[in-house]
Amino acid sequence: MEARAPRGTSDILPGEARLWQEIEATVRDVMRVYGYGEIRTPVFEYTELFARGVGETTDIVEKQMYTFEDRGGRSLTLRPEGTAPVVRAFVQHRLHGEGLPQKLWYCQPMFRYERPQAGRARQFHQFGAEAIGSLDPALDVEMIAIPIEVYKRLGIRGFEVLVNSIGCPVCRPAYRERLKAYLAQRIDRLCPTCRARFERNPLRVLDCKEEGCREATAGAPAAWDYLCDECGLHFESVQRVLAVLGIAYRLDGRLVRGLDYYTKTVFEIVTDGLGAQGTLAAGGRYDGLAAELGGGDYPAVGFAGGMERAVLALKAAGREEGKAQGRPDVFVVRLGERAWNEGIALAQRLREHGVAAQIEYAAELGKARSMKAQMKVAGRSGARLAVIAGDDELSRGTVALRRMDDGTQWEVPVERLVDAVKEQLGGGGRLA
Ligand code: HAM
Repeated sequence: MEARAPRGTSDILPGEARLWQEIEATVRDVMRVYGYGEIRTPVFEYTELFARGVGETTDIVEKQMYTFEDRGGRSLTLRPEGTAPVVRAFVQHRLHGEGLPQKLWYCQPMFRYERPQAGRARQFHQFGAEAIGSLDPALDVEMIAIPIEVYKRLGIRGFEVLVNSIGCPVCRPAYRERLKAYLAQRIDRLCPTCRARFERNPLRVLDCKEEGCREATAGAPAAWDYLCDECGLHFESVQRVLAVLGIAYRLDGRLVRGLDYYTKTVFEIVTDGLGAQGTLAAGGRYDGLAAELGGGDYPAVGFAGGMERAVLALKAAGREEGKAQGRPDVFVVRLGERAWNEGIALAQRLREHGVAAQIEYAAELGKARSMKAQMKVAGRSGARLAVIAGDDELSRGTVALRRMDDGTQWEVPVERLVDAVKEQLGGGGRLA
């Protein structure tokens, strides 16, 4: 048997992990400046949470969940998305008592049984934010501004912001009926999936990627023409704040999203640079979810962006993977039996003082590497300095320090080694 990771999952190897770290650090700092606190929820939840929260008729709940029974006979599901778990935590821990809105962010793995392709995986990762307990349209726009800021800082460009409003339980039924009447006249032109959606979830027909369905629904009525006063006012306010912040956007009446909890604003940030999976981030308002989960009336809004897609976009923007191993500051070369062991302690002491120190390891048990072999590895490692520890010098309490760029070499007392190395490296950890 050849050992392989399961279909739809991938290993993130050290070179690519550097890109992930950069994206994560950027997300962390953008969330800091916007005032969000990090939340980490369990990888699995009771299945009921997603069935109720995301919606029984959604693709996610109908066919994409990793659901299993544990040994106690409870039905559990690997988290397919982050919003329902965060709202569950908000309700469970009564976070409303800590002030409203609660502004929370996360960066976590998600699991969906989907057909894998570039930018679509079965285990994938999302960074996202949820602001719970406010109906302010400024927060809807914040959820668009945050991912934009992340992409801008990373140098990812060429994306478009699509915005729609799908109304609320007051006004959506009328729109739904109007849309159904429109679709009923074209039902023969719809794909089998959309014909099935027609009764249960007609809005999703607008979201279908099939050419025939897109043509049949090209002139479909948009929800914004059917909004109640409150939703209409909210939609106008969102657009006003978008204008105030100078965020370019396009209204898209076909944007309906695949999760049932949305109310009012929905949006996506899309790019055509990534092929079929071009949605970098998406989100919207979900004013009824906390109540649906038994938590009372807390209007909320959020977004999530795909980490894998951010990595792809970063690469498309010309960024390369990092080197698998970071460049050490110092390479400790050891000469003689005593030095072979004591050199390990020197490297250790440098590391304790924040200096990246590397040594060459034995290829054979009980045999030291030759000076020449060690110097070769030291040269290839990119280290700026070599510490050369020999038995004779150690017995005098000194080691040699060598600049790798020009070969200058001098002796320093062992107890001054850390200071001497730091003097050479300067504040930035590199040669001054
Ligand atoms: P979503 O549209 O299902 O929304 O996912 C958000 C983003 O996650 C997508 O735009 C995409 O970048 C990424 N994504 C989704 N599925 C996959 C996959 N199979 N492989 C790779 N990336 C994927 C949500 O999940 C909502 N919880 C967003 C939200 C938060 N709404 C309000 N708050």
